[in-house]
Amino acid sequence: MRVLGIETSCDETAVAIVEAEAAGNQPVGRILANVVYSQLTEHRRFGGVVPEIAARAHLERLDGLVAEALAEAKLGLADLDGIAATGGPGLIGGVMVGVMTAKAMAFAHDKPFLAVNHLEGHALSVRLTEDVTYPYLLLLVSGGHCQLLTVRGPNSAGGDFTRLGTTIDDAVGECFDKTAKLLNLGFPGGPAVERAAVGGDPQRFPLPRPMWRKPGCDFSFSGLKTAVRQTVEKLPAGDAKAIADLCASFQRTVGDVLADRCANALALAPATILVVAGGVAANLYLRTRLETLAAQHGARLVAPPVKLCTDNGAMIAWAGLERLRLGRTDALDFRPRPRWPLDPTLDVKSVESRA
Ligand code: KG4
Ligand code: ZN
Repeated sequence: MRVLGIETSCDETAVAIVEAEAAGNQPVGRILANVVYSQLTEHRRFGGVVPEIAARAHLERLDGLVAEALAEAKLGLADLDGIAATGGPGLIGGVMVGVMTAKAMAFAHDKPFLAVNHLEGHALSVRLTEDVTYPYLLLLVSGGHCQLLTVRGPNSAGGDFTRLGTTIDDAVGECFDKTAKLLNLGFPGGPAVERAAVGGDPQRFPLPRPMWRKPGCDFSFSGLKTAVRQTVEKLPAGDAKAIADLCASFQRTVGDVLADRCANALALAPATILVVAGGVAANLYLRTRLETLAAQHGARLVAPPVKLCTDNGAMIAWAGLERLRLGRTDALDFRPRPRWPLDPTLDVKSVESRA
């Protein structure tokens, strides 16, 4: 089975083709092509993603990237079994570009179309490269989300996902990006903060740990963001050591909070596998912290390869493939969704009003 996947929900235009051999309940995946165009130059001077610019850039690049992926895999559209695209949540202009392109290809070549929830893409991506069976506990940490979920299968719409907790304000990736911006470390912020933290003193700056040691599995990062800003305002200009110390202290604080919330989740919903996914899962310090935490609870931490943590087409193709195996395809009148919670029991309206 081969599926092409398109990701255009934020600032990466990405296309991939993945293949799977059925081996019982655990399909064995292989990436045949994986091309990503990061719109860094388009957004850098604004210090963040500008939705209109992102949508135009997706439109300009997407056809070329589809051709590139097919050439890399040495395949034609006729060789595919399905075409998947991120159907939401995300910046709606970009999502529309990806969905329309996928629908057009599916229609023209009479292939099944799969509208994939971007979060489901992150949630299942680990199974593309690692030996992970359902169920597992998932920490989803990205630029727009911070959630803990139990994953029992690939079908979020069918109730395979149960959300245990989420952020009550900012996402953790956003907090990394803000920290990098305050310290002029560049964009995107996560990798810049991780690099700057190397050799820094993680104990130098005591920062608040919102929700730490509170019951439940919710997160909060806005107080930490404010504390970082107040600390930066007091730093002497150009003090490289202080910047390294602050980045290391910030990462340790985030590590404390994530480990504490995961410990509560493992107590509430015991699991033998803890998966961390989403852009922030690329952070090697945080992975180490979560590895230790998982081991303390008799669980194993599994994460996708660093390259597959940030947005990519392979995770969308893979989630599409897992759904195609179950016969869960989408009609061509599917409407892109700016908001789309993973747990269908959650009240969409309350999520929308909070955002
Ligand atoms: O999953 P992703 O590519 O896009 C969203 O769906 O949001 O995540 C992007 C986020 C950004 O906030 C970025 O700064 C963060 O992931 N990120 C990192 C690292 N690499 C990317 N955060 C911490 N450490 C990293 N190495
Ligand atoms: Zn993402």
